[in-house]
Formats: sequence, C-alpha cells, structure tokens
Amino acid sequence: MAHRTPIVVGNWKLHKNIAEATALVTELKNQLGTVRDVEIGVAPVFTSLSAVAKRVEGSNLLLGAQDCFYESGGAFTGEVSAAMLLDVGCQFAIVGHSERRAMFGDTDAVVAKKTRAVLDGGLRAIVCVGETESERDAGKTTERVGTQLSAVLEILSSDDLERVVIAYEPVWAIGTGRTATPAQAQEVHAFIRKQMAARFSSAGEAVRIQYGGSVKPDNAQALMSEADIDGALVGGASLKAEDFAAIVKASRPAR
Ligand code: 13P
Repeated sequence: MAHRTPIVVGNWKLHKNIAEATALVTELKNQLGTVRDVEIGVAPVFTSLSAVAKRVEGSNLLLGAQDCFYESGGAFTGEVSAAMLLDVGCQFAIVGHSERRAMFGDTDAVVAKKTRAVLDGGLRAIVCVGETESERDAGKTTERVGTQLSAVLEILSSDDLERVVIAYEPVWAIGTGRTATPAQAQEVHAFIRKQMAARFSSAGEAVRIQYGGSVKPDNAQALMSEADIDGALVGGASLKAEDFAAIVKASRPAR
C-alpha cells in the first residue's frame, strides 16, 4: 500500500478576527511545533491570512484559504485569486466546500475551474466532496460523490496529484455532531480511492483523502485507523487549540 503522510487541516470558517486568529495559531505552534509525521494546516478567513502568515512562517504549519476564485484578475467584485493567495503566504486553498456549494453557487463545474486555478497558481488544493442526507437515504452516495469527483478528475493530470488532497465531507455530518462511523467513511474513501486509481493507477493511490464532519478528539483515532482515511478536515473542533492538537496527535501514524 502506498505510504501516505496524514494531513489534518483546521477550517476555521467564518470565525476568529485577527487577534483571535493569531492567538490560536500561536497556541497551535506551541502544542504542535515538533510534529513532523503529520502535515498540519489552518484556513482562517481572508482578512486574517496576512497576520497568520507571519506567525506560521518557518514553522511546520501550512496556511490556506477557504476558497479561491478561478479568474486571475478583472472585474470580479469580492473575489480573490490564486496568485493573491500565494502572495499573502498561502500554501493551499480549500475548494468545493459543501457550504459554498449549497449557499454560494459553486457547481461541480465551478469547483473544477477553481481547482485548476489553485494548482496553476502554485498552491495545493483540498477538494471537498460529499453527499447530503437525502442523497444518502436515497442510496445515491457514491453516485453523487462520483459525479463531484469526476468533474475534478477531468481537469487533473498525474503531475498535479502530489498537490491534491480530496476531503470527503458528508453534508449530514458537518456541524451536527453526527459523525460518519469509521466504516461508513471508509466505504466512501475506498470508493474515491478506486476512482483515483482507475484514472491515475499508482499515482492515484498516493493521493491523500481526508475525512471531515464532526471530527473530535474522541472519534479521531477510530476514523484515522481506517485504511483509506489519511487525515481530517476539521471545523468546530479546530477552533480550540487543545482539541485540534489532540486530533492531530490521534492522526499520527502508528510506529
Ligand atoms: P465540523 O467539524 O464542524 O463538523 O465541520 C466540518 C467541516 O465542514 C470542515 O470543512
């Protein structure tokens, strides 16, 4: 099996002003500064990126944005480009989060364009996929996740894969406290892995697949011990340094 370094990222969503964000990242550096066997990232709001970038410089913490527009410049009020994210000190951007898909019109096609722009801009992309509760209840989980994934796979080449992470986030598990069971998550991760391998063979096997949706210190280890779960995309629990640090530590590979 391909060796994959776990990657755990805190998606801070619309939380934390500059002072709060810098305080949190400073605490994370204190608690996680020596971890080398897990990649760790934080994704603050746009307005905190610059301040947080200064704090993470030279550390083991990666900085990312929660979204990225696909055009590089022009009359696009309110948008931010990949080049600008690189300029402020980001190493990655999240694209296709279900909140953006549900509330801000990010279709599969838009997510594919954003993914391409992020990679072309020299950043890494965390691409989110996941089914709603009604899609799951209707037995359409793999169909929905498969469609979301194919739209992105179409614009990827094998050269991109090192800089791509897929995040499986079942919408019904986000912010609800209702985590997918390790077995439920593993089933979909294995499906995603199969799609990646079908398209890119062994290079596809090496792509990390994070789980997201009510990951907490007390359920992280069970999730991470599944074969195809390579880390976590954490919302609520990433806002408290101790909880996020505990999740990172629970994700460390067994030695
Ligand atoms: P919660 O961890 O709050 O469920 O959020 C998950 C998520 O949406 C991360 O992107």
